[in-house]
Amino acid sequence: MTAIAVEWLDGKLRILDQSKLPREQIFIDLNNYRDVVLAIKEMKIRGAPAIGVAAAYGIVLGASGIKTINKEEFHAQLNQVMQTFTGSRPTAVNLFQAINRMKKAARGDGVTEIRNSLVNEAKRIHQEEVTATRQLSQLGAALIKDGFNLLTHCNAGPLATTGYGTALGVIKAAKDKGKKVSVFATETRPLLQGARITTWELLQEDISVTLITDSMAGYFMRQRKIDCVIVGADRIAANGDVANKIGTYTLAVLAKENKIPFYVAAPTSTIDLSLSSGDKIPIEERSPEEVTHIQGVPIAPEGIKAANPAFDVTPHGHIAAIITEKGIIREPYTEGLKRIGSRFL
Ligand code: MRU
Repeated sequence: MTAIAVEWLDGKLRILDQSKLPREQIFIDLNNYRDVVLAIKEMKIRGAPAIGVAAAYGIVLGASGIKTINKEEFHAQLNQVMQTFTGSRPTAVNLFQAINRMKKAARGDGVTEIRNSLVNEAKRIHQEEVTATRQLSQLGAALIKDGFNLLTHCNAGPLATTGYGTALGVIKAAKDKGKKVSVFATETRPLLQGARITTWELLQEDISVTLITDSMAGYFMRQRKIDCVIVGADRIAANGDVANKIGTYTLAVLAKENKIPFYVAAPTSTIDLSLSSGDKIPIEERSPEEVTHIQGVPIAPEGIKAANPAFDVTPHGHIAAIITEKGIIREPYTEGLKRIGSRFL
């Protein structure tokens, strides 16, 4: 069974509140764009492709809330709506790719036509992510051998993608092809997407999963218990450097040290050819409270200083392959990424 992350219900956006998983499965209906922006900021909806899809539908909601029928005024207000989305989460490029697509789609003789064009484009973006994640999963499954123990970080499954999943999609596709696979899922501090969501999704797929704390990864790699690492991505620079959930870089270094292949799975909507290297990727800094507290419960002395970068960058030299819907790319990444390009730009 695949959980539904977002659903467009003619005029409202229904999302599964991922911040409450796995204890509660609560669907919330969002009727205006500001609620969608907030849901993205508060990570009720999260994961790079899912953020892009949610923003696209959010822009549709924003457009339907604009009262004027004057085209110029409509565009001015629509730009403000889009601007609000750009400030929601800075690292996942899917958000900006989706906004750009919606900007280009905002065309038509009158405001009704523009609104129709926007809703069609949002549905297209959504459908493309579903198709792309399914295709990349099928391709990536070829890298997974029968009997493999894989390690994954954060959550890169159906909920993060509104589709089939990226890293988890590859694992699911390998299993569907009859390969026996098992997974080590890191808990992924501070917000525990691995412990809360990855294990939950894998259980539903009947895939064997063992939860470990982030700091146990090196131990299991050195014990030869892990055959490969596979993660998703939030932004891939033109040289193949990859931004993903904080802790990914540490895993890549450990994998290299232990001669374990480190794979990244992402749709081409996550590629950003405008940035020459990962150094230029903006890294989201989130509230220190996410570090000093676990699910609202304080775990550190009151008032302690805490840092909370939500992502890090893995240099391309640590990555054995990048799996996309258009093919599996290896070094030299600059050439491969240029050849397949970004689906959006
Ligand atoms: O902060 P999050 O939970 O949105 O971070 C998500 C990740 O880092 C995922 O690995 C990434 O978006 C890939 S999703 C297919």
